Amino acid sequence: MKKIKSICCIGAGYVGGPTMAVIAQQCPEIKVIVVDINADRIAQWQTDNLPIYEPGLLEVVKEARGRNLFFSTDIENAIRDSEMIFMSVNTPTKTYGLGKGRAADLKFVELSARKIAEVSTSDKIVVEKSTLPVRTAESIKTILKEHTNGVKFQVLSNPEFLAEGTAVQDLQKPDRVLIGGDQTPEGLQAIEALTDIYAHWIPREQIIQTRLWSSELSKLTANAFLAQRISSINSLTALCEATGADVDEVAYAIGTDSRIGSKFLKASVGFGGSCFQKDILNLVYLCEYFGLPEVAAYWEQVIIMNDYQKKRFATNIIHTLFNTVSGKKIALLGWAFKKDTNDTRESAAIYVADDLLSDLAQVGVYDPQVSADKMYADLNYLQTRPAKENEQMLEVHSNAYDACKDAHAIAIITEWDEFKTLDWQRIFDQMKKPAFLFDGRNILNHSHLREVGFIVKAIGKGAE
Ligand code: UDX
Ligand code: UDX
Repeated sequence: MKKIKSICCIGAGYVGGPTMAVIAQQCPEIKVIVVDINADRIAQWQTDNLPIYEPGLLEVVKEARGRNLFFSTDIENAIRDSEMIFMSVNTPTKTYGLGKGRAADLKFVELSARKIAEVSTSDKIVVEKSTLPVRTAESIKTILKEHTNGVKFQVLSNPEFLAEGTAVQDLQKPDRVLIGGDQTPEGLQAIEALTDIYAHWIPREQIIQTRLWSSELSKLTANAFLAQRISSINSLTALCEATGADVDEVAYAIGTDSRIGSKFLKASVGFGGSCFQKDILNLVYLCEYFGLPEVAAYWEQVIIMNDYQKKRFATNIIHTLFNTVSGKKIALLGWAFKKDTNDTRESAAIYVADDLLSDLAQVGVYDPQVSADKMYADLNYLQTRPAKENEQMLEVHSNAYDACKDAHAIAIITEWDEFKTLDWQRIFDQMKKPAFLFDGRNILNHSHLREVGFIVKAIGKGAE
């Protein structure tokens, strides 16, 4: 069988960038070119100031960059010169028209497929890396078929299971790799060609080979199952608060059942990130499309629970602060959707901040990796109020101490490690009294905070 010598990846984002960097590091004999329509992004990948923050990524990039890893905006030549093309463009939820708010917007995927069809002069294996609704490969195949000048295409689905913040680790030691393809001789050959690449560093028994549709659907539903666990434990937080149970103890007791397991049972202010909500909405849309309203409603409830959790957290702050936060400063610690990433897509922080601003609070924010521009863009995107008001009412600080100065309350949104080692006495001394602390992640030592003088409200914990 022919060994792949050249790869191109369209989309230099959170998925494409790290994935290609690790492939290039592990397969020095394969030339890997990452292309993107965004020239700024490509320029940043050439420097030591990478466009995305991931622990360990810079080391991997530095090892392979210039050797067999390249970044470019010349999409056409990269496609032409490569035997295998990964599509890693973003697939946001549609904001218009048919399927608005649910279906995935496949505009970028379609554009990429058309581009590949247009410029290819030799046979290619096209790999879907983006999370896509089931049967997208069908559309890609249709587009590719229309344009061929005798060139043959094979379409594979190879969904990414990396989580942000641990991307490099997840890529280097994945639980499994999933490759779906047509069950024809050519399809099976393409599956083998991609398997061969991963087999450079992953044991073959961890590389799962399936039909195309199974692979596409597995990715959507794996995310739905993970999100469902978080919504399940979060659904218990309100009950714990009402009954005096402690959600961390409950999660521990549940998770030690080996049939259940301990992961993804950490109660929180709500899950965020680019995948969970989008993929579940997609699944819901798919179920409705196939006339399965009960199945659609079942999965939609995971999202409803998550929206409730974000809203409940903000409402709890307002109620506790004597039913009004008007003119009061509230400090938000963390804006990213989880620690160790600068990604803010669907972060609970956006919705909590928005609710507090609607109640006329003054919000002070500190996040170690997220820029002020990003925070304002996130808020403005909701269009709840004019951008100018967001700028007046929300102030971004460069450290936690300034963010908390003169605040009536602090809300922990992201579980950044550095929040655990802050000088809480110093923070308390500079706050308005009574000083409240709402721990949306339960990462702090609450009894210590109470000794300092804070009134602590922890998610899923009744009055202690
Ligand atoms: C990925 C997956 O692709 C998505 O399906 C999954 O659900 C989440 O993760 P991600 O890498 O996080 O997306 O997206 P992003 O960081 O936005 O990167 C996508 C890149 O593709 C961007 O840099 C964008 O400029 C580029 N792009 C987009 C193109 O190069 N061409 C296009 O036509 C569209
Ligand atoms: C997720 C999937 O884990 C990954 O396999 C898939 O490929 C892409 O989507 P990611 O979105 O990067 O990865 O982050 P993840 O670690 O799954 O966290 C998602 C959200 O859930 C975060 O907001 C996180 O804080 C929250 N979460 C996670 C909880 O609230 N509690 C938990 O126990 C775990």
